[in-house]
Amino acid sequence: MKLLVTGAAGFIGSHLAERLVARGDEVVGIDNLEPSYDVAIKQRNLRQLRERMEVVEGDILDAPLLERLFDEHRFDGVVHLAALAGVRRSVEAPWLYQQVNVEGTARLAHAMVQHDVRRLVFASSSSVYGDGAGAASRETDPTESPSSPYAASKRAAELLLHSMSHVHGLEVCILRYFTVFGPRQRPNMAIYRFSLATMRGEPITMFGDGHSSRDYTYVDDAVRGAVLALDRAPRGVSTYNIGSHRPIVLRDMIDRIGHIVGSEPVVEQAPMPAADVSHTLANIDAAGRDLGYEPAMSFDEGLRQFVAWLRRSDERAC
Ligand SMILES: NC(=O)c1ccc[n+]([C@@H]2O[C@H](COP(=O)([O-])OP(=O)(O)OC[C@H]3O[C@@H](n4cnc5c(N)ncnc54)[C@H](O)[C@@H]3O)[C@@H](O)[C@H]2O)c1
Repeated sequence: MKLLVTGAAGFIGSHLAERLVARGDEVVGIDNLEPSYDVAIKQRNLRQLRERMEVVEGDILDAPLLERLFDEHRFDGVVHLAALAGVRRSVEAPWLYQQVNVEGTARLAHAMVQHDVRRLVFASSSSVYGDGAGAASRETDPTESPSSPYAASKRAAELLLHSMSHVHGLEVCILRYFTVFGPRQRPNMAIYRFSLATMRGEPITMFGDGHSSRDYTYVDDAVRGAVLALDRAPRGVSTYNIGSHRPIVLRDMIDRIGHIVGSEPVVEQAPMPAADVSHTLANIDAAGRDLGYEPAMSFDEGLRQFVAWLRRSDERAC
């Protein structure tokens, strides 16, 4: 297949592009290297990809660029990962999130329709469920109370794609990812910050009392979910949770990091930000049934692989 991957320089996008190329797909990536975290990380990801595929440095909001890209290539499908992804920053600049995550999705989907490209896999988020209060979220659960502008932008993009499927016959598979972690993770995410601080003997800021919990998804499982969606998603619009169905309590996660890193984390407590949810947990029955998705990586082994990667990249940086 010939595929466009948006957000290819990012954490999940760079892994996905590699996987697709490795299995023989022809992949073109697009990414504007926006600076919400260290751009050198994205440039490093891109350098590695460029050896194997074409990557366009550009913005999905740039309509003439999209036009040229779709004119030049006859894509069989698109995996849309480009987005502003941080929950907390979305509170400070909600308009940016609506612009990139909603308008950007609209522009991309419009370009697809104009060029008769039908198959789209869209990276949405568990945050659309709001605060799960500990119960496993199903795809049919209510999504009217997103806790952050980021969550609202993802839900808005989902609805926009429903409408474009209805009007234009776009085939859309929406993947609601539950906190993805692993090598090349965004440095502003908790597992990254806590691991690096513990390695350096620096204090960790823990939001809340440590009882909040997350369903963590190893990046290889997240990538497998996207590949299965490309290959097996039913016609029309479909929505799947991609997670592990395994709640990890924050305090426990910090202890496991300490165990793997080999030193005691120094924890400082701070109030929980209003935009953060207390619990996430995925019901993954639908993805298992329709796509054959099954998470393969245990949390501890995933954490070990992440910490090993972080040590190597921290040594390189020193
Ligand atoms: N990592 C997670 O835990 C997680 C969880 C749920 C959903 N998601 C979603 O998965 C996708 C990928 O997340 P990630 O963790 O890899 O984030 P990331 O920030 O590493 O990757 C997103 C990429 O999109 C690019 N981008 C942003 N705006 C763009 C624009 N206007 N034009 C072109 N490129 C643009 C960025 O430069 C970045 O490289 C995002 O849509 C995110 O919302 C991620």
